[in-house]
Amino acid sequence: MDATTITVTGAGGQIGYALLFRIASGALLGPDRSVRLRLLEIPQGLRSAEGAALELQDCAFPLLQSVDITDDARTAFDGANLALLVGARPRTAGMERADLLAANAGIFGPQGAALNEVAASDIRVVVVGNPANTNALIAAASAPDIPGDRFAALTRLDHDRALAQLAQATDASVTDIRGIAIWGNHSATQFPDVDHATVAGRPAREVLAERLGGAEAAATWLDDEFVPRVAKRGAEIISVRGSSSAASAANAAISHLRDSVAGTDGTSAAVLSRGEYGVPEGLYSSFPVTSDGSGYRIVEGLDLDDRARSRIDASVAELVAERDAVRELGLL
Ligand code: NAI
Repeated sequence: MDATTITVTGAGGQIGYALLFRIASGALLGPDRSVRLRLLEIPQGLRSAEGAALELQDCAFPLLQSVDITDDARTAFDGANLALLVGARPRTAGMERADLLAANAGIFGPQGAALNEVAASDIRVVVVGNPANTNALIAAASAPDIPGDRFAALTRLDHDRALAQLAQATDASVTDIRGIAIWGNHSATQFPDVDHATVAGRPAREVLAERLGGAEAAATWLDDEFVPRVAKRGAEIISVRGSSSAASAANAAISHLRDSVAGTDGTSAAVLSRGEYGVPEGLYSSFPVTSDGSGYRIVEGLDLDDRARSRIDASVAELVAERDAVRELGLL
């Protein structure tokens, strides 16, 4: 059986631990595809990745051909078909935004360059490590021979959070909902948008108005509860769980790559802008997307009202500021 080489960076961390077993069990590529796992860690994380590899062995997954662990990016990405860039430098107390961006540029720049040199020609990359959109921009800029649309940053977790919140509010099943979109940055400025969403075929706003007592009440719920709940869900998870989302982030990363490869009629991902919806060309910003299996394409032609426009503009302004900060540091 042909095998797909999948590289996971930060494999010794908590998202890595939630990712590896599901990938090895076939959740990403299905039951007919063997996988070779490559785990990239920094030296301090190698033991943890080695421990996960021992447990992978103990699962005796029929689809898992091999597991290799390394702290060398070129070795990790050699021949990679899919890469999940999870390992990143977290913000620590007293760290300024510029320091955070610079530290991560120091990770994602060299990893992009290594991908450029040694990855397989069909490589697809999803950046999970934060600040994910700007890290994707840096990795892609460091990989001039890989088309920019092979890189994306993960906003699928935000998308799935929005889906679940809308399903709960409308007492619907998540499978009844279509057309949710996350726009902008994977940060608190993101815009989770239901303006083109439907619930069992009916406009989501109409269903919300019916349940909440009118269009105005629905609009208030969207602005005061839905948008902040989704955008700040990461902080809510930390406050309740005591550590950041791991299993749901891993699930979203798997769903992102699976749908990119297998195809989907609608989800969200932070992909390369070519100027769609006025988002400056070259930024990695979240959009509603589809895939026919060859990678994500932005859904075009949606009408945006003033509310949507100003929220998207605010989040995109943050992406521009991040890009400019990285440029000023001479890292882009
Ligand atoms: P963690 O701290 O448990 O694990 C991170 C791992 O990355 C550590 O084992 C560390 O040794 C490793 N690492 C650090 N630098 C590395 C490098 N240069 N190369 C390879 N490995 C490296 O963190 P966790 O919880 O697994 O989260 C990882 C990242 O994912 C964080 O940046 C977090 O903010 C982000 N995240 C993104 C989400 C999204 O929706 N885009 C959702 C949740 C988390």
